[in-house]
Amino acid sequence: MRPKLSVFTDACRRKETEYTPVWFMRQAGRYLPSYRHLKGTRNVLDIAKDPALASEAAVAPVRELGVDAGIIFADIMLPLEGMGVKFRIEENVGPVVTSPIRSLEDISELKAFDSERDSSDVFDGIEETVRKLDDTPLIGFSGAPFTLAGYIVEGRPSRELEKTKAMMYGDPDAWKALMTKLTSMVKSYLDGQIGHGVDAVQLFDSWVGCLSAEDYSRYVLPYTREIIESVGGRVPTIHFCADSGSLIEKFRSTKADVLSVDWRTNIGDVWMRCEEKVAVQGNLDPVVPLVGGDVMKRGTGEVLRRAQNHNGHIFSLGHGVLKETPPENLRRIVQIVHEKTRLRA
Ligand code: CP3
Repeated sequence: MRPKLSVFTDACRRKETEYTPVWFMRQAGRYLPSYRHLKGTRNVLDIAKDPALASEAAVAPVRELGVDAGIIFADIMLPLEGMGVKFRIEENVGPVVTSPIRSLEDISELKAFDSERDSSDVFDGIEETVRKLDDTPLIGFSGAPFTLAGYIVEGRPSRELEKTKAMMYGDPDAWKALMTKLTSMVKSYLDGQIGHGVDAVQLFDSWVGCLSAEDYSRYVLPYTREIIESVGGRVPTIHFCADSGSLIEKFRSTKADVLSVDWRTNIGDVWMRCEEKVAVQGNLDPVVPLVGGDVMKRGTGEVLRRAQNHNGHIFSLGHGVLKETPPENLRRIVQIVHEKTRLRA
């Protein structure tokens, strides 16, 4: 057993921990000089597919910030390549798909995903990252079916996800076929990640906050539940969504161990609404570490105050680290959280 492992994974399982663990979504990224150096002129996908580079990118923030967990270096789009989806990741834009998936026929042409064949680079990267991290836990992840559908149906990042929702409401057969194929891919991808050594998995349903609770229940929840069930408690599961205030009770019913929420939601209310039966990850506004100074001290303190007396808090940002963030601010947040929560007893 890797000893440091337990602070993060115990918090995920709502056990008492010596201090509150911290990690940051998108902690391996362009705000970090070592990442910019490693990246050079490379594309993010080339890094993700090279186990030596991917493991280096994943370990750097653990080493440099003192966080309590690493996250594998990959991208939510990556496994879609195995299904035959062609895309590129455009700098400062995001994923752009060559031929968006719009009809039942497009969906029927998606290939069945075989994790050992299609993700062997990512899995080799996981093994190398686990070795380099020593006793620090490693989080695996996947995009959730709705958010992945959002990218491949729209073809590029979109706020409203109009075409995706139009398929969801207007073409139930296509929606079911697409969500079923994506669910099967995600299950197999996460199963492979667990087999290759990750200590927890996070499901990014980043954009599903654009649905009402009723529509979420009808069109998305059964698939998410199936994925969480397939993990079967082997490792803790974390469910992330931005702007998720109106969906908290629904996310609770996915049976994920941890709900990761953004700054719009009061984390104290999450426990109240879930009768304490869930761990909570979050939720400092990513703009706060960008600003730093007293604003950051106050903001960090406020998140900790809302979390007081609860086992099962994992401190993080409400969404990803912004690329202009000074790394020393994140380092300081880690120190503040560790110091303040260690005194808790
Ligand atoms: O530490 C880490 O979190 C790094 C691993 C990671 C990446 N992408 C690498 C990456 C993770 C966990 C992701 C998840 C991801 N990718 C999500 C879910 C998280 C969220 O923010 O909601 C989404 C929606 C994507 C799709 C995607 N990939 C976007 C929107 C972008 C940003 C485009 C830009 O340039 O701002 C990417 C590119 C990307 N993926 C970068 C990194 C480090 C930045 C570009 C680069 O380094 O080349």
